[in-house]
Amino acid sequence: MSDNKSAKQPVVETRPSFASGLIRRKTVEQVQAEYSRGELKRTLGPLNLIFLGIGCIIGAGIFVRTGNAAALHAGPAVMLSFVVAGIVCAFAGLCYAELASVLPVSGSAYTYSYATLGEFAAWIMGALLLLEYGLAASVVAVGWSGYVVSLLRDFGLVIPPVLTAPMGHVITLADGETITALFNMPAALVCGALALLLMVGVSESATVNNIIVAIKVAVILAFIGIGLAVILPHLGKYMHNWEPFIPPATGERGEFGIGGVMRAASIVFFAYIGFEAVSTAGQEAKNPKRDMPIGILGSLIVCTTLYMLVAAVMTLVVPYTTLNVPDPVAVAVDAFGPEWKWFALTVKVGAITGLTSVILVLMYGQTRIFYTMANDGLLPSLFGKVHARFKTPWINTIVVGAVVAIAAGVFDINTLGDLTSVGTLAAFAIVCFTVMYLRRTHPDLERGFKVPLYPLTPVLGIVSCLYLITTVEMRVLIFFAWFVAGSVIVYFLYGTHNSKLGKATPAE
Ligand code: ALA
Repeated sequence: MSDNKSAKQPVVETRPSFASGLIRRKTVEQVQAEYSRGELKRTLGPLNLIFLGIGCIIGAGIFVRTGNAAALHAGPAVMLSFVVAGIVCAFAGLCYAELASVLPVSGSAYTYSYATLGEFAAWIMGALLLLEYGLAASVVAVGWSGYVVSLLRDFGLVIPPVLTAPMGHVITLADGETITALFNMPAALVCGALALLLMVGVSESATVNNIIVAIKVAVILAFIGIGLAVILPHLGKYMHNWEPFIPPATGERGEFGIGGVMRAASIVFFAYIGFEAVSTAGQEAKNPKRDMPIGILGSLIVCTTLYMLVAAVMTLVVPYTTLNVPDPVAVAVDAFGPEWKWFALTVKVGAITGLTSVILVLMYGQTRIFYTMANDGLLPSLFGKVHARFKTPWINTIVVGAVVAIAAGVFDINTLGDLTSVGTLAAFAIVCFTVMYLRRTHPDLERGFKVPLYPLTPVLGIVSCLYLITTVEMRVLIFFAWFVAGSVIVYFLYGTHNSKLGKATPAE
């Protein structure tokens, strides 16, 4: 994400009458000029880019949501769902890479939209990114809470169940009594605490980040290694958990069968969110033409392989039906045998550490998107106000922290996760479309990287993203439609009147 502090009075392409409000845009040349001063050093080779990608990606998707996807939708075939989601991400990732090579801003899809499709599309993109970053942070926080509650329980500390689940969720206690949950307190608390850290300006220290990435990857690799060591000598005993590999469809939409595999793909798609950071690091690549596809496809291939192996171990070692829990990886480790009890603790600590950093990065991203939008006049200037001492957008950070914390405390992870997937898939579809639009309107722009197999790749990207959206539950899609409609209304009530670009446009 970028702090666009150097925004000068924008040069606008004037357009006739009313439509100008919707399609006024920063010119590509202007965006290039605005950011040219902040040129970053080209120091990242393909390996750095792969690590960057893996660091952003691994989080609640694999540690939490895989369990739900396997238990309720795909069974052991959740492994195939990871392949489907990985391919969809590859299409979108290549499109991100082309845009990043034209608009070398370490910003987001919001900036790409502003410079191509226009202000209205940029606003919609801003709304979708609120789901991809803000809401995703809530999802990861709920996952974090699941592992923390489970770890504390191992040490005899029990947080009252009414304070560990989403509002209104009915919990059946061990003695059969049922209670209604009030709030997921740990999830909300971690969001609040991390927002405070962001506010006082915890910089993303590369070393700390590298250590956390190493812990995350080590836990995943150890899980796979130990799991295979436990399973392979007794493969016959475990194989019955894979029979059938694709459980037959129940007749309910998205429950098992091929439909279930696709439904699960939209769930585990969450596990890939963040990979586009590799694409937007294009300006730091030494040789973008060669290194970008290697970085994007390489990190996707590595993650898909890891995810498939984790899913394989999980679904072999316990029946998939038992995995609909907040800490499915730990449940699988428990089945490794009593001698691996210490490893279950290690997995929980590793997951908690890894998830903490993912929440932080996602919230950071959200605050910087709001910051950029405030600088463009599309959000109140309070969102762009920088604290004199901390040098951070502090009010913005408090608002983001509060919203993310409330969502994490009140809603259940499946609804939050689905909404995040839908918003992100819609954003990816727009990015793919933007590549095609820009090729048409600016065919001669210098492109450091070009999408291979054009126009097939962006077309497949759009179609596959839209298809995965259709697999999500209707109630989530309806909520999504309301969310987008609400954001359109806010644009017409606020954004269009306050846009700096709009104010700079000569009256017609
Ligand atoms: N991909 C990230 C995760 O799974 C957002 O937590």
